Formats: sequence, C-alpha cells, structure tokens
Amino acid sequence: MTESDFGEFHRIESRADRRTGLRAVFALHDLTLGPATGGVRRWRYASEDDAVVDAMRLARGMTRKNALAGLPFGGGKAVIMSDGAPVTKAQLRVFGRWIDELGGEYISAEDVGMRVEHMVEVRKETRFVTGIGDRGLGGHPGPKTARGVFRGIEVSLGGSASGARVAVQGLGAVGMALAEMLAAAGARLVVTDLDADRLEAAERLGAKRCALHDVLLADVDVVAPCALGQVLTPEVARALKGRVVAGSANNQLASDEAGRILHDRGIRYAPDYVINAGGIISAGYEYLGWMGAEIQIDAIGARLEAIYRESAATREPTHEIAERMAAGVIDRARARRTAA
Ligand code: NAI
Repeated sequence: MTESDFGEFHRIESRADRRTGLRAVFALHDLTLGPATGGVRRWRYASEDDAVVDAMRLARGMTRKNALAGLPFGGGKAVIMSDGAPVTKAQLRVFGRWIDELGGEYISAEDVGMRVEHMVEVRKETRFVTGIGDRGLGGHPGPKTARGVFRGIEVSLGGSASGARVAVQGLGAVGMALAEMLAAAGARLVVTDLDADRLEAAERLGAKRCALHDVLLADVDVVAPCALGQVLTPEVARALKGRVVAGSANNQLASDEAGRILHDRGIRYAPDYVINAGGIISAGYEYLGWMGAEIQIDAIGARLEAIYRESAATREPTHEIAERMAAGVIDRARARRTAA
C-alpha cells in the first residue's frame, strides 16, 4: 500500500499539536458498515510518510476484519508518532479531543504501544473510545484476541493443540496470553521477544527461547507471529518449516506472493484479520453494550474452517478467499443501502 491508494479512503488526516508535541495520523477507510473502528498504535516512525502508510494499511485491514466479524463498523486506525519519550496525559487529552472532532466517524481502542489506562485518559475528552471495560463488558482486548487466536490454532491443526510444537514471535498483551493458553493445553512452545522479562515469564510456562531471527523458521507445527506485521516475506514463506501460520499480528503477509507461496507449499495460513478479531469483537460489543462477545470470539474457529474448506475446494489461497468474503459483505451492504 502506498499513498497513491488515498482514493479508496473516506478520510486521512495528519495532525500536530505544537504545545504538547503530539503528532498523529487518522486513516478512516470504509464506513459502509458503520463508523470506522480500530485501535490506536503508538510507534516510532522514521517519517510522517511511514506513519501515514502504516495507518492506511492497518485501517484497510480493519475494514475487512470488522466486516468478516459481522460487526456494524467500518475500518479505521490512528497512529501516534512517538518520539521515544513516554506519552503524557496532556498528549492523550489532545488526542481525545481530535477523536471527538471527528464527530463519531472514528471509534478508538488500544493497540501496540498503548495501554488501557492511556485510553481511559483519552476517554475523558470523547465518548468514541472502547476496550476499557468500565461497564462490566469487554475490557483489555489483548487476552480476547489471544482467545480467538488459540481457537484458530486448534482449528488449523484439525483438533487439539496438545503436543503441538508452536513458535510464538512476540510476548506482548496477545502473545503472552496465547502462550499461557497453549501451555495449559499441552503445547510445546518456542518463543522470542525483545524483552528479557517477558522471555523469563514464558520460560516459567515451560517455553524454550530462541533467537529473534530464528523464530519464523523454527522446526515446529505452528508459527504464530504476534509482534509486528510484514514478517511473511516470500523468502520466509519459502523457508518456513511449520505446517500452519496462525498468529495475531496485523498485516503479516509482506506481499500477496508470500501468501501464494505458503498456499502452494501446502502450509495453512490463517488470514490475520480473521484470526485476530477477538479484541475488536470484545471492544465492539462493549461499545454497543451487547452481551455474548465470547460466543462470537469462539466462532472465529468456524469462520476459519469455512475458509480452509473453500481453499481446499477452489485451490485459492486463504488470504484471497478472506478478501473476497469481506468485499462481499461490504458490497451487499452497499447494495441494500442503494435499494432502500
Ligand atoms: P504488544 O505491544 O503488547 O506486544 C508486542 C510484543 O512484541 C512486545 O513484547 C515486543 O517486545 C515484541 N516484539 C516487537 N518486535 C519484535 C521482534 N522483532 N521479535 C520479537 N518480538 C518483538 O502488542 P500486542 O497487543 O500483543 O499485539 C501484538 C500484535 O497483534 C500486533 O501486530 C497487533 O497489531 C496485533 N493485534 C493486537 C490486538 C490486541 O487485542 N492487542 C488485536 C489484533 C491484532
């Protein structure tokens, strides 16, 4: 995705606040199904262009994720350009005011680099924030995402994770919760992270650590990318030893070619925005005041099974099937609206 893809977006805005030093980008992709909903990522970007492209890529993924999860939301994402210093309360309040000025077109939640307590601060300025859990619903999305990924791994393996060898890249909010679930289910774990404390915590679960650059090519059954995106390059896809790739990271495929290579090699790839929808389902239900998010999160397993079945029947790569399904949901909603 490049900035030349602007045309398919409802709105892209880059904002800066001189007083607090806050810089952020809002990318609102497609609002056919409802307000653009997706988390805010805080990250050190090399340039504003990089931040815009990342926000666009993530927002487009959210459109597909929300559509396939059956949520009445479009796709959106915000990124905050970090300067390496901790985020301040004043910056979070400015960020909240910016969301409010979007008038409900964008609903936010936490993503990489943000925590629930940050979103609590943001919410002081706007009601268009979710994933906080203060009304007895939802709460921290990370463990909910992990629950969906765990179900997805079981389905991708064709049953239980017991005895399966799983490599987890990234032991953050999702990866650590996933490692705990997998260890409890009797899986054998290989893990890596940049953070030594997290590695030690995973070792207490019985996980073995491996070097950062080895994890995707580990000799395992399942590779679970749970750090950042773009990790599945054609080279990695050609060399990967697992028979399943199923993790939480957004935008795992660096290119369509990588997805095709996995498919041609008979490796099951669980499309990221299908398997990692647990957090947005939980946050979305929380925002809407709906009960029953867990049932919908567990349904991620059935959704993936349907994609695998179709892939076996049509010989299409799973990521292409998921994209077609998501486009179908949006096209049908658009057609209904036109007919009404
Ligand atoms: P997090 O920020 O809590 O954790 C990320 C972890 O990855 C950190 O421990 C970090 O040290 C580690 N990491 C970063 N680069 C690494 C590398 N090169 N090798 C190994 N480890 C590395 O993030 P969180 O919330 O766990 O999210 C993980 C991924 O899942 C992200 O791509 C995120 O967009 C995606 N995701 C998260 C959801 C959520 O509910 N939190 C929902 C859907 C997707």
